[in-house]
Amino acid sequence: MKIPLTKPYLSQEEENAASEVIRSGWLTQGPRVAELERKLVDYIGCRDAVAVSSCTTALYLCLIAAGIGDGDEVICPAYTFIATPNSIVHAGAKPVFVDIDPATYNLDPNLIEDTITNRTKAIMPAYQGMASGTDEINEIARKHNLAVIEDAAPAIGALYKGRKVGSESFLSCFSLHPRKVITAGEGGLITTNDPETGKKLRKLRHHYMSVTDLERHKSDDLIFESYPEVGYNFRMTDIQAAIASVQIDRLEGLIVKRRELAYRYNEAFGKINWVSVPVNDENHYNTYQSYMIRLSPEAPVSRDNIMKGLMKAQIASRRGFISCHKESYYRKMYPDLTLKNSEYCTDNCIILPLFPAMTRREQDYVIENFKRIASESTVDTPALAGSLR
Ligand SMILES: Cc1ncc(COP(=O)(O)O)c(C=O)c1O
Repeated sequence: MKIPLTKPYLSQEEENAASEVIRSGWLTQGPRVAELERKLVDYIGCRDAVAVSSCTTALYLCLIAAGIGDGDEVICPAYTFIATPNSIVHAGAKPVFVDIDPATYNLDPNLIEDTITNRTKAIMPAYQGMASGTDEINEIARKHNLAVIEDAAPAIGALYKGRKVGSESFLSCFSLHPRKVITAGEGGLITTNDPETGKKLRKLRHHYMSVTDLERHKSDDLIFESYPEVGYNFRMTDIQAAIASVQIDRLEGLIVKRRELAYRYNEAFGKINWVSVPVNDENHYNTYQSYMIRLSPEAPVSRDNIMKGLMKAQIASRRGFISCHKESYYRKMYPDLTLKNSEYCTDNCIILPLFPAMTRREQDYVIENFKRIASESTVDTPALAGSLR
């Protein structure tokens, strides 16, 4: 049996939606993109939504729209995907890395205020599939007049205290990459409650053109566009938007399926005293874009040896997020920075396969192999880089 880490859930409906766009002759940023944005507004319950080419470009555009640039500082977690700090660097600003709360793997709100300087302009929390600390982060941002731009790439459909992620912060960004809960191949979605920022984002993504192609197309009169500022080409195609539209309709069902599988994993791994399973309570409704567990210092086997053993059994796994401050570019920026929780999680977490079409047999095979590898281990020194704070 060969088990991939993930498999996008796509069907004939997505195929038909993409084909219809191809037959229509309008391939990019047209009616289907507009329709997707309306759907997202309804689904999330926010005031505006803007579709772009990826979550990375979404984050970057949000920083630009918020007026963040040279010399500014943006607070973000160290334990995240590299796109989080990269988007800040692209905007000309400096990422200020903060450690995570190991219970949630998200930015620890208690550590934010100590890192605020007179250059701080924004906070960019990142979520692996579950939001936490949103109230505290928004409160700190209000107090210090900072923008909150959520990197919610894997968290579309997640709930924080029963509220949809993307419905309450200034700006939130989601990804449509195939490893995410829903996909369009590539793509990014931005939600906001500030219509002025929404308008600005729409212009920025399309060369800051004063009118849209759709408006010109519909007009009976001649319209000449102008370009009052420098913008970008971060457009989403209508083919992607049509696929994403079908995927949004499926989203709730896909998350329910993921959560059933995660529950089964929790049942199995929750009984192992050297494994921490993800938080699962009513305030933190996880999409389980990734099912990640953490090994404690008492684990009889290292994370890497578990991954190697799984690989031998043809089961894919990944190590989770990384400590961005330890990657070359950022290490040069912060040679002496140590963030214990992020570093511990980088060395001791493991993401196991989980996708809606996964069968019980496949999942049992993962669980059995995990347990077998641990029981067969002959005290290989656990890959323990320190401990949690
Ligand atoms: C936390 C986080 N931020 C940003 C991204 C980047 O998303 P995209 O590939 O759509 O640019 C990802 C994707 O893996 C992610 O997990």
